[in-house]
Amino acid sequence: MRRRPRGGFWLAALAACLALPPLVQAEETPHAGPVRAVAALLGGAVTGGFDYTLKRWSLDPLTATATWRGHFAPVTALAVAPGTVWSGDQTGRLLARDPASGRVRLDLKAHGDAVTALAPAPDGRIASAGRDGGLAVWTQKGRRLAVAKAGASLLALAWAEDGALFAGGGDGGVTRWRLDGGALRGTPFIPAGGMPVVGLAFGTGLLVLRTNGRLEAYGPNGRPAAGIQAHEAAATALAVDALGDAAVTADAGGTAVLWRLPGPVPLRARAVTGDPVWSAAFLPDGGVLLGGMDGRVRVWRPEADAVLASAAMPEEAAGTGEGARLFRRCAVCHDLERAASPKPGPSFHGLLGRHAGSLPAYDYSPALRGSRIVWTGAALDRLLAEGPERFVPGSRMPLQRMGDAGERAALIAYLRRATATDGNPTP
Ligand code: HEC
Repeated sequence: MRRRPRGGFWLAALAACLALPPLVQAEETPHAGPVRAVAALLGGAVTGGFDYTLKRWSLDPLTATATWRGHFAPVTALAVAPGTVWSGDQTGRLLARDPASGRVRLDLKAHGDAVTALAPAPDGRIASAGRDGGLAVWTQKGRRLAVAKAGASLLALAWAEDGALFAGGGDGGVTRWRLDGGALRGTPFIPAGGMPVVGLAFGTGLLVLRTNGRLEAYGPNGRPAAGIQAHEAAATALAVDALGDAAVTADAGGTAVLWRLPGPVPLRARAVTGDPVWSAAFLPDGGVLLGGMDGRVRVWRPEADAVLASAAMPEEAAGTGEGARLFRRCAVCHDLERAASPKPGPSFHGLLGRHAGSLPAYDYSPALRGSRIVWTGAALDRLLAEGPERFVPGSRMPLQRMGDAGERAALIAYLRRATATDGNPTP
């Protein structure tokens, strides 16, 4: 008996796409670090990177026309509202700047932890979400209208046409928030308990993208309307076009997929890069802007199926060697830095020797928190060999298995070096 590939019929279409001609490469200044946020901006684009900068781009050809500074930490979220570019960073700062000059107009301490999502409302207000579960709505002038705290980390935001704000994140649930006389009042829309939500957007109904690659559509009452295994690798980004009739999703394996709405019906899949794609947005002309782990900015034109890319970031910033290359599979979800990160998984800082589920800042599953595992090289080797669903049943970590013992050893050796706390050798 032949087994159907996971993900269904359209993965065959993806396989066909892999045989396409090589990508067009433009010589252009990339970010010197992953590009976590992208947005369309007045005939061009704006991107935010882990190199603390924003870049403004003109299209055809894809050219960086300005580098904007002002953040002192990785830029983790971006949004373009009428007359304003908003950007949030890993320390919770929110900047508003003039889209023409790049001059910073507002500098706000928005969240106690990384800003994970920004969503502009049609009337110019802006919503911001934090890794710590904080949620806030701001006027264009930077006045905070309301603030609330969700029960788990937030990773995604979307405004509904009727003015309700939808937020989802680490606990897999989605809450519908209403601004009611200076307070945000939330009612559960999708119950918690599923895989973390990395993307939310409105097409005909609410689209939900989960870290395990599932794309779901919901009706007005939170009733599931459709669900499809959209990606085999960890999903990273979701965007809907201005008309609400097309969506794009991307993953840590470097694949982007274009969907027709409602549905969602897969139209085209493209292996854009071997590295994770970290962010996606539609351009007004139907092109898709993609930000990469490799520091590149790409424009995918699904109708011509062509990809235009900025140059790669310098090697030293990307990290070289087998272990560093393999770590890219984990990097979408795990940070190596001490700072509580906006990513869906716990930080790896000081990982070797740490008890599983022990970071106070991270909202672990009961299964991982209650396990007696200590992360030694041997324990990591078992986690990767068996996969989290067997090694820690009930863990929220999506399927991550590495069958090759040599690859596991290279990754663990890299983690031992890269996660060491200063002056403290790891076991
Ligand atoms: C799509 C997101 C995602 C990817 C990709 C991912 N992880 Fe995870 N990982 C998680 C989540 C979520 C948790 C927390 C699980 C829980 O609470 O049950 C986790 C937890 C862990 C932990 C436990 C950490 C602790 O503090 O106890 C380890 C170790 C780990 N992951 C290793 C890896 C490695 C190695 C890779 C790459 C090969 C990887 N992960 C890729 C999402 C991911």
